[in-house]
Amino acid sequence: MVTDQLERLSRLPIRENLRGLRPYGAPQIDVPILLNVNENTHGVPEDVRTAIVTAVENAVAGLNRYPDREFAMLREHLAGYLGHGLSAENIWAANGSNEVLQHILLAFGGPGRTAIGFPPTYSMYPLLAGSTGTEYLSGSRQDDFVLEARATADQVAATGANIVFLCSPNNPTGTALSLDVVADVYEAGAAAQAIVIVDEAYAEFAHAGTPSALELLPGRERLIVSRTMSKAFALAGARVGYLAAAPEIADALRLVRLPYHLSAITQATAVAALTHSAKLLANVDEIKRQRDRIVSGLVDLGLPVAPSDSNFVLFGGLEDPRAVWQKLLDAGVLIRDVGIPHHLRVTAGTQQETTVFLETLKSLIRPAVS
Ligand SMILES: Cc1ncc(COP(=O)(O)O)c(C=O)c1O
Repeated sequence: MVTDQLERLSRLPIRENLRGLRPYGAPQIDVPILLNVNENTHGVPEDVRTAIVTAVENAVAGLNRYPDREFAMLREHLAGYLGHGLSAENIWAANGSNEVLQHILLAFGGPGRTAIGFPPTYSMYPLLAGSTGTEYLSGSRQDDFVLEARATADQVAATGANIVFLCSPNNPTGTALSLDVVADVYEAGAAAQAIVIVDEAYAEFAHAGTPSALELLPGRERLIVSRTMSKAFALAGARVGYLAAAPEIADALRLVRLPYHLSAITQATAVAALTHSAKLLANVDEIKRQRDRIVSGLVDLGLPVAPSDSNFVLFGGLEDPRAVWQKLLDAGVLIRDVGIPHHLRVTAGTQQETTVFLETLKSLIRPAVS
């Protein structure tokens, strides 16, 4: 937001805790190669597109009626996709996992309550906390971005936070958490009855054998695993996120959602996509290959790279990341400056997009002096 917009806004009787805040604002710039918001760069396969169009066409016939408020069919399909013995009553969904997280904060956060996250992490956590009147605490992680189980659990216990955000694989660093971090944090939150959210938006891109926090759900009624169809499923534009948890968590979220929050079009799109999940997810392996190509390309350039279980890579060693970002943009490649000194983040593209990124970067970088 530009300064005069902020000034104009400040004249309104806006809530005190929103004064001076800037909205989420990853640049949306029209250039040929978009590698800045961790979208799936591979698009929806033709036959899945056709299936979605048919499903939407059927839904249109009933648009004079409100949609199924309980999105029963969608919940069943999501439970079937996740496995782990989950059923529809364990599932909640909303318009993107951002809205799922917002529902959680509305139900379990709010004035007088606190949420803790561990930066660098997903930039929406503090914004969602702020908009729901929840105080946001920034915990710390190791210099190499690792979240160590004991140190993290100690911070959760010491702050008595009501909500804990763990992100695995973490955005923007890319690395997945080991399950002992989740288990120890859950234990540490017992006294405050903390709701522990494991945001697994990028889980499908993790290296083979990386466990999901879904494994820890049985017997842990304060644990929530949130997922999205925006990344591996290539449906960012459809806005479908979901979570798995104990059934009573969904009961709590029913209290704060708007009636009929998931449109009939959204539900039809998501169910059609889930019916063809194998075809949609077929691109995940190729994206992982491009991710690994980026990692080795950056290492070859002598740049430090955080291990990535995601469809993006955080890399450092840049003297002037803003200048590198701008020069890549000038060459038609949009990546992300996440505000970490000397670092930039790039999403894995198609084979051709990844090649253009690596070749352009190679022509640009000057490693940092230190
Ligand atoms: C870690 C993480 N969680 C959640 C989201 C929100 O995704 P969506 O609202 O599209 O499901 C994102 C989006 O980039 C993300 O990076």
